[in-house]
Amino acid sequence: MKVLTTAKEVREHYRISVLRNPGFVPTMGALHEGHLSLVARAAERCRMVAVSIFVNPTQFNDPQDLLKYPRTLDADLEMLSGHLRENDFVFVPSVEEIYPEPDTRRFDFGELERVMEGVHRPGHFNGVAQVVSRLFDIIRPSYAFFGQKDFQQLTIIRELARRDYPKVEIIACPIVREHDGLAMSSRNRRLLTQHREKAGEIYRTLIAAAAMISDYEINEIREFVADRINMIPDFRLEYFEIVEEGTLKPVHSVIEMSPEKKYFGCIALWAGEIRLIDNIEIGLR
Ligand code: PAJ
Repeated sequence: MKVLTTAKEVREHYRISVLRNPGFVPTMGALHEGHLSLVARAAERCRMVAVSIFVNPTQFNDPQDLLKYPRTLDADLEMLSGHLRENDFVFVPSVEEIYPEPDTRRFDFGELERVMEGVHRPGHFNGVAQVVSRLFDIIRPSYAFFGQKDFQQLTIIRELARRDYPKVEIIACPIVREHDGLAMSSRNRRLLTQHREKAGEIYRTLIAAAAMISDYEINEIREFVADRINMIPDFRLEYFEIVEEGTLKPVHSVIEMSPEKKYFGCIALWAGEIRLIDNIEIGLR
């Protein structure tokens, strides 16, 4: 695998290897098995794979979060070298390479950004769209792989691709979890031991919430989730919403739900100082 840092090097790499339009996995580094599952899927499907590692400043609404975001480039490259082949490459640009001047573009995702993360992290998805569009312009992928862990991000990226990058096929990949069910995340390594020990309760709560759909109303399920999360010392629920796939329209009552559609229960919470998100499909039976 090659490590490239500029758009020019990427163009040169395409010329020399006589391949282009790779399968693309954008990341912010601090890689774990969740990221690697995306890389493995890309390698199965595509003759050339590109992985980017770039901690994108424009998507952090909290400056402390940006400052404290884990940066582990050497370990990341080591992990990727186990999956990537000769023509595959890791793209590790500088901030100046991605943003030679400040990116003032404003993306409008309508209702998709007016719920959940969009409400609690203002400007976040605009930053994500800025960086993903810059990366798509440089990498020119045929496929791009995104995790279902970031459910709303995946929905917004699908919309971005539909509008502006119709040649890029977006592939959704399932959530990879720790043994106790905690969704893998670069932020997990910042959890205090006592919070990490309790964090398996998040997924257990989601499973229980999903099972409640046959006998309870939405507000009862939401109350149950809030109680169970807020019961854990130092844990605080930020939101739990049951939304329709694709539109992200929140469901308020079970009678609104259609057996033809898919629904997901999406959660955001604080474990001490660390903000975690997760989701689960809520199937009508
Ligand atoms: P990052 O959080 O590094 O995640 C990179 C990709 O890995 C995303 O598509 C995310 O959904 C996926 N991912 C993370 N944890 C996962 C897990 N446990 N199981 C499966 N997939 C998982 O998401 C971002 O970076 C950034 O917003 C980015 C898209 C790179 C733009 O900066």
